Amino acid sequence: MIRLAILASGSGSNAEKIMEHFQHSSKAQVALVASNKADAFVLERAKKFGVSTFTFTRKEMEAGELLSKLQEEKIDWVILAGFLLKIPDQLIRSFPERMVNIHPALLPNYGGKGMYGSFVHEAVKAAGDTETGITIHLVNEHYDEGKIVFQASTAVHPEDTADDIAQKVHALEHRYFPEVIDSLL
Ligand code: GAR
Repeated sequence: MIRLAILASGSGSNAEKIMEHFQHSSKAQVALVASNKADAFVLERAKKFGVSTFTFTRKEMEAGELLSKLQEEKIDWVILAGFLLKIPDQLIRSFPERMVNIHPALLPNYGGKGMYGSFVHEAVKAAGDTETGITIHLVNEHYDEGKIVFQASTAVHPEDTADDIAQKVHALEHRYFPEVIDSLL
């Protein structure tokens, strides 16, 4: 069984779709959900699926405690599903080509520091773009620049609010992220 860990900082709707997808899989299982926010809703979602949870601070992550936990849990792949801290290089190097991130835009557009969640959708709206989408990519030491493995797009209409854009992007994420992970494993 391939052991997956999901790192998430917030609601965890993507994490939930991934847990659902692998719930009865004979290939892989979500073995751990880890968060830098002790009150993140993703932790409740993990409990519902009987998945172990782990919380940590940025300092603890930078001191190597998250890496130790992932090693102790014999994690094979790390999935970033709305994880908002920069991952230490040592941790990235420990999962070469085995760490995946989802970004709520069509990279290389709207990537980099400060570009996450609603900030991305507000920037897309402000630019008057007519399409946006999702990017699933491998994680390397350069923020949002690892090898792109999947993109899907959706139309943005002039009357769409940033919230409307967020909803369309979430729908794409929920539809594709679990199956793209499955095909990567
Ligand atoms: C998702 O839209 C994900 O693409 C984004 O955070 C959201 C988390 O939603 N990630 C980033 O912005 C990373 N740069 P969720 O907690 O409901 O899965």
